[in-house]
Amino acid sequence: MLRQMLANLIENALTPGRPGGAIRITLRPGRLEVADDGPGVPAAERGRVLDRFYRLDRSRRSPGTGLGLALVAAVARLHGGAVTLADARPGAVPPGLTVRASLRR
Ligand SMILES: Nc1ncnc2c1ncn2[C@@H]1O[C@H](COP(=O)(O)OP(=O)(O)O)[C@@H](O)[C@H]1O
Ligand SMILES: [Mg+2]
Repeated sequence: MLRQMLANLIENALTPGRPGGAIRITLRPGRLEVADDGPGVPAAERGRVLDRFYRLDRSRRSPGTGLGLALVAAVARLHGGAVTLADARPGAVPPGLTVRASLRR
């Protein structure tokens, strides 16, 4: 399940199709984090993208089901943790996205 979680997060970080874009993966005891320098997710949508089948309008033309982050959230829960989303580069344009999954140690 953790492998699937990481795969989903990496896929999302790469999807926006940004040649030259960079992603950063951080693994620490009790924490797994994937950050990118893409368009990010507006604060108002951050709760909803964790819901099953929810996708931002801009993603409608790209392949996907809207299940990736819902699965990430479910796996985190099963490990006693939770998922939070944040700007990866606060104040920058684009802001990027950091998805952080806490996991019980
Ligand atoms: N790293 C990211 N950067 C920008 N938007 C993202 C990122 N990850 C997810 N999203 C947005 O959240 C939506 C839901 O993601 P997900 O549940 O993985 O579904 P899917 O990838 O199948 O569209 C995506 O459609 C996209 O709009
Ligand atoms: Mg996805």
